[in-house]
Amino acid sequence: MSDENSRECQHSEGFLVLSRRSALLAGASVVPTAPFVRSAKAQDAVSPLALPVSAEHSLTVRTNINGGAFEINLDARTSLLDMLREHLGLAGSKKGCDHGQCGACTVHVDGRRVASCLTLAAKVEGREVTTIEGLSDGDRLHPMQQAFIDHDALQCGYCTPGQIMAAVACVHEGNATSSERIREYMSGNICRCGAYVGIVAAIQDAAERMERG
Ligand code: FES
Ligand code: FES
Repeated sequence: MSDENSRECQHSEGFLVLSRRSALLAGASVVPTAPFVRSAKAQDAVSPLALPVSAEHSLTVRTNINGGAFEINLDARTSLLDMLREHLGLAGSKKGCDHGQCGACTVHVDGRRVASCLTLAAKVEGREVTTIEGLSDGDRLHPMQQAFIDHDALQCGYCTPGQIMAAVACVHEGNATSSERIREYMSGNICRCGAYVGIVAAIQDAAERMERG
């Protein structure tokens, strides 16, 4: 990385500052040091789909994503989903409808599930965001991820990250006590492949493992 880019990718008060320019220009990855211990790696390529940052709408968001502190300059109108996908390269959260109707974009904010397409990035200032990339413990899958594999709870997989994030929240909320209740509290997550039987079985299985573990 050139000196110029190094200056733009500066650490301040433990936060990684990603300017749009440095993100576009830096040749090497912006590899976070401690405390970036999870799989949330900030990538240095801001997608062309990201809203361009004008002086008029510029906003700096400081937030914690998957255990790492980030400071990100973006357009104030940017959704949390676009911040994750287009600014940070965390593409696990999927954009299905972009209107809060499919659940593919589900992430956790301070432990509660939200549709990231309907959440402004500005709203996660000072809060803790967990995405599908931050769910596993290194190479060890979260029990819900393992249960989805064990129960073949997916076909194309597009809805799966959102299903898993919603399912983990469903268990934590105490709503995984019966298949009827699971169906009700997972009704905001649509699977176009119709893998619902496996999804319900996976949640029931994982709920037991989560309670034990
Ligand atoms: S992409 Fe957010 S609910 Fe569909
Ligand atoms: S597995 Fe294809 S949309 Fe759910």
